[in-house]
Amino acid sequence: MSGRAPPALDFVIVGATGDLARRKLLPALYNLHLDGFLPQDARIIGYSRRDLTDAAFRARSEEAVREFSRRDVDPAAWDRFAARLGFVCARLGGLDEVAQRTRPGRIVHLSTPPSAFSSTVQGLAQHDLVRDTRLVIEKPFGRDRLSARELNRTVHEFFDESQVFRVDHYLGKESVQNLLVLRFGNSMFERVWDRDAIDHVQITMAESIGVESRGEFYEEVGALRDVIQNHTLQVLTLLTMEPPRSFEPEAIRDEKVKLLHAVRPVEAAAVVRGQYARGAVNGDDVPGYREEEGVDPDSATETYTAIRLEIDNWRWAGVPFYLRTGKRLAGRTVEVYVSFRPAPVRFFQQSEVEDLESNHLLIRIQPQEGISLGFLAKEPGPTLRVQPVEMDFSYVRSFEAQPPEAYERLFHAAMGGEHTLFARADEVDLAWSVVQPVLDAPPPIRFYPAGTWGPSQADALIAPRRWRLR
Ligand code: BG6
Repeated sequence: MSGRAPPALDFVIVGATGDLARRKLLPALYNLHLDGFLPQDARIIGYSRRDLTDAAFRARSEEAVREFSRRDVDPAAWDRFAARLGFVCARLGGLDEVAQRTRPGRIVHLSTPPSAFSSTVQGLAQHDLVRDTRLVIEKPFGRDRLSARELNRTVHEFFDESQVFRVDHYLGKESVQNLLVLRFGNSMFERVWDRDAIDHVQITMAESIGVESRGEFYEEVGALRDVIQNHTLQVLTLLTMEPPRSFEPEAIRDEKVKLLHAVRPVEAAAVVRGQYARGAVNGDDVPGYREEEGVDPDSATETYTAIRLEIDNWRWAGVPFYLRTGKRLAGRTVEVYVSFRPAPVRFFQQSEVEDLESNHLLIRIQPQEGISLGFLAKEPGPTLRVQPVEMDFSYVRSFEAQPPEAYERLFHAAMGGEHTLFARADEVDLAWSVVQPVLDAPPPIRFYPAGTWGPSQADALIAPRRWRLR
């Protein structure tokens, strides 16, 4: 990250005692503080229904930062950071206090459950917290297309679109931003980036963790709304959009929207919904989803979704895109697997190689951020035997640094008023329209044991191809 410190801004974290604030928002703000990216006198006000003193909020925040920050807590730096922190309880008069304790030029970050967004926006308007405010709203933005439209209407009643920053934290990941550089900074990939060269694409966002303490939130949401409608579709648009006319935010967002217009709404027959049952992850027995705290014992919420998508435009017609996500899977990985068509003529016979999709680009979004290019090479020796091999780029090896956390990039961009890393209203609307048929008529839940790669029905969805990880 580079750049001068942005103009003075205060922060209000609505939902400051929640899981997201603890795991991501507070550690990100602390790391920005360490890097000197926060304005010197910026205050950070936590706001939630808990009744906490400033001191108690500072103590909670310190615990969170110690547990989740990518860098250790330095006592002197921590004291300076803690002096910025304050807390206001969300009760009658609470927003008046927020208005008194923060200055215009503030960032208000809504990290409450989605059902509270609308009333919070109205509350901000009633307390003169609109002028000179940047409104940062977490995902999922709405529950479906209709509710997202209603929410957009409420937001636009008070805020201009230029004040609104809809979060999809995947856009804050360096390896996701690099998709544009990979494609449009290198002519060699752009030459093969179409239906002529590419057989299919797999986008996987797999987690080995369960719903943890977020059972209640997750029951309202499920994997389709939590990840497919946003994170994986964002990756898809960056991977498949046309070259933008410039790298200005609106030029990039226009291309993403154009691409989303061409994505065919997914039919229920092209979807597999799963839910984890009891199983073992890394050798430890873990409960099924229905046994988790805050979850209905008969819950029909999906913790796994796989879909097949098609893009109806000249570049991509006929190329299937397979997107999948799940909790309690066999591994933690976020990756894009681009499989190229096989060579048209094979001058060797080797069944084990025939079986491999040997030409591919594997984009590792996390962990071990990097890219590898897979192709065939001749085994040394007198006979013509070939082997799949890989050329590998790794962020850590090449740049000798860990990329910053997504929320550090997002806060930094919001401070600078920069919209590229945030979703525009029409983008969110179209992303909902892609998954709306599944929300309207969800296919049945298939159970999978925790610690596996999901329900077996997902193999049929991709057949005759195969998931890279299964
Ligand atoms: C969030 C989802 O958006 O992304 C969570 O709500 C998920 O369910 C998380 O665990 C994963 O984020 P990351 O950055 O760890 O891939």
